[in-house]
Amino acid sequence: MPWTRKHLITLEELSLAEIDQIHTTATAFKKILRRNVKKVPALRGKTIVNLFLEPSTRTRIAFDMAAKRLSADVISFDAASSSTTKGETLRDTAENIQALNADMIVIRHACAGSPLYLSRILDIPVINAGDGAHEHPSQGLLDTFTMKEHFGDLRGRKVVILGDILFSRVARSNIHALSKMGAAVTLVGPSTLVPHAFTSMGVTVSHDLKSALADAEVVMLLRIQHERQATNPFPSIGEYTSMFGLNKTRASWLNPKAIIMHPGPINRGVEIDADLADGERSVILEQVTNGIAVRMAILYLCSGGQPEHVLPSSE
Ligand code: CP
Repeated sequence: MPWTRKHLITLEELSLAEIDQIHTTATAFKKILRRNVKKVPALRGKTIVNLFLEPSTRTRIAFDMAAKRLSADVISFDAASSSTTKGETLRDTAENIQALNADMIVIRHACAGSPLYLSRILDIPVINAGDGAHEHPSQGLLDTFTMKEHFGDLRGRKVVILGDILFSRVARSNIHALSKMGAAVTLVGPSTLVPHAFTSMGVTVSHDLKSALADAEVVMLLRIQHERQATNPFPSIGEYTSMFGLNKTRASWLNPKAIIMHPGPINRGVEIDADLADGERSVILEQVTNGIAVRMAILYLCSGGQPEHVLPSSE
């Protein structure tokens, strides 16, 4: 099946076959990243603009590296250095980037819907690098890619997502991808951050950490996203950590083969103890590394590349 999408805005809209295509393409790119020369000419002559209007470390650097590994020219700029600080609209900023002959825009924005809005205005591909609490599709794809590397087929696998689900775009993208891939997702956290309404997405909601962890094969921690919260969902960080933080005792409730994930940035000592973040069950840095190959696949496919052309069939 050929890849037909120009934009990547959500995982909600992707089919299972499309998620598989991105993962398969990322696997091929991961092989290329292990070579001495970690670069292919797939996007030579193209210019990709990383428009990050919200802070980022991992996503921005990984998109930057992915574009460079594909031989594209990359221009990265953030809110502080853009004319949005002078009152320019997002539309004007994006139309100017297109007028400067960019071939693709990767956008992160605090407002949900911004990437979709740009995709309807611009002629060039738009990639969502995180929009408010809505979606973070490249993160969901790299998380599920990492899970597949550990478990193979995710059908029936038990994934617990623990923390601030309400304000998490990572949780929403993972829920969409994992549900399509057949995993059983349980959301855990305080009821103010994990309301029952999430069951409409086909997941289980639990406030019983011990029983959820005992069943889990993957536990994904999320930080408290203070920047998106207008009210206090719990009295203090201390109260949150004492009830839902993953510490040594709680990790002992986990299945010995369970892996610990976190999209980052980590707040050590809040949602996860430092020893666990750095421990042998943790695959947090594997997630970060996989983010390059997965984002290479996204940039390549949305630029019109086809999965079967990445590696010669002999490799
Ligand atoms: N996971 C993630 O989006 O991290 P950054 O905010 O550092 O990009």
